[in-house]
Amino acid sequence: TAITAVRLTPVNVARSTGLVCGHVIVELETDAGHVGLGEMSDFQHLPRFHPDLGDLTSSLQSMLAGTDPLAANRIARLLEEAFPSAGSLYDKGAVIRCGIDTALWDLRGKLSGRSVSDLLGGAVHAALPVAYPVFRARSRDDVEANLDLVADRLAQGFTMFRVYVGGDLELDEMFLRALRTRFGDRIEIKSLDFSNLLPATGALRFIERTRDLGYALVEAPALAGDVAGLGEVRRRALVPVSEHVYDAASALRLATERAVDVLNVGLFALGGITPALRVAAIAEAAGLDCLVGTTQELSIGTAAAAHFGVATAAVTVASDPVGPLLYRSDVVVDPVAYTGGALQAPPGPGLGVHLDPDRLRELSGPLRWDRGATTTIIDRVGSTP
Ligand code: LMR
Ligand code: MG
Repeated sequence: TAITAVRLTPVNVARSTGLVCGHVIVELETDAGHVGLGEMSDFQHLPRFHPDLGDLTSSLQSMLAGTDPLAANRIARLLEEAFPSAGSLYDKGAVIRCGIDTALWDLRGKLSGRSVSDLLGGAVHAALPVAYPVFRARSRDDVEANLDLVADRLAQGFTMFRVYVGGDLELDEMFLRALRTRFGDRIEIKSLDFSNLLPATGALRFIERTRDLGYALVEAPALAGDVAGLGEVRRRALVPVSEHVYDAASALRLATERAVDVLNVGLFALGGITPALRVAAIAEAAGLDCLVGTTQELSIGTAAAAHFGVATAAVTVASDPVGPLLYRSDVVVDPVAYTGGALQAPPGPGLGVHLDPDRLRELSGPLRWDRGATTTIIDRVGSTP
């Protein structure tokens, strides 16, 4: 079997928060008739530019056309050479690699009649427990709205939440205290997500002030790249620390410097399942736990996260992908399912999701940016809720 064509379709999908996110749906066509589905998820992150998809299609086409989709070593090398890791979280090159890698795994599953998690050796977890994100409050109204959101999600069976902090710290603390007053122990706070917005000392001060509120983890509680700062938070606050991994080298560094307890393994940040497997191996060797991170994918990207997560023993901490619950629409026939607060890996073959051509057409259009301040991109809120 050989890949014959690479088709990229940009789509714009609104979230319930009003933010419109651009994704690129990948279809890898083959001479066997099978089509591998992938997703370059959520380009709506800084830096504020989008890739030129005409140019990208010809590059990928020249790299992949005529190649056997099972030639994983060769393809991984080609992709890593062409889109080298930038060592930052929203590296658009990694998002591009992830879309192709995902489509290749889907294709291999379809060719063999197996699900992606089967190809990864079989599921070791029944499903992937997830934490629902509560985006950063910028006003008292946001605090109230976020409390109502938690009430709604709790009624739907989500008991675990990831709370973004580090913007307006007074509002953050107000929200966290109100959360405990209103919901008590009925909810779990999986993590405070600092998103690398505060220096380690600032994060430490906030942790000291709020540690009575009971949360399992602090995520990214230092400026981006400050590995020593993460270690300092970890040792001083004695709260488990997690941080995103950008490539195998960054995972090794976090491990050897004993900077974290948990590696946040996001397929979008690493470039797909193939590089994520290397990071999982590093985690196992170093005795670190993993969670599956997210940029908030549509169902194709979320299915990839689910298959990887259920088949990876080191994933022991609640994960983050809830894109299909945040977006108002999707490009597949049946979106991935969440049962009892856990993401289910679709049965397969491949990723087990099916493209809906009508939905794809409706949502397709050039990638764009909404008007509005660049800070709203960081906070993941839109101008038109
Ligand atoms: C999102 O788009 O909501 C996420 O990528 C944000 C984040 O920091 O996880
Ligand atoms: Mg994102």
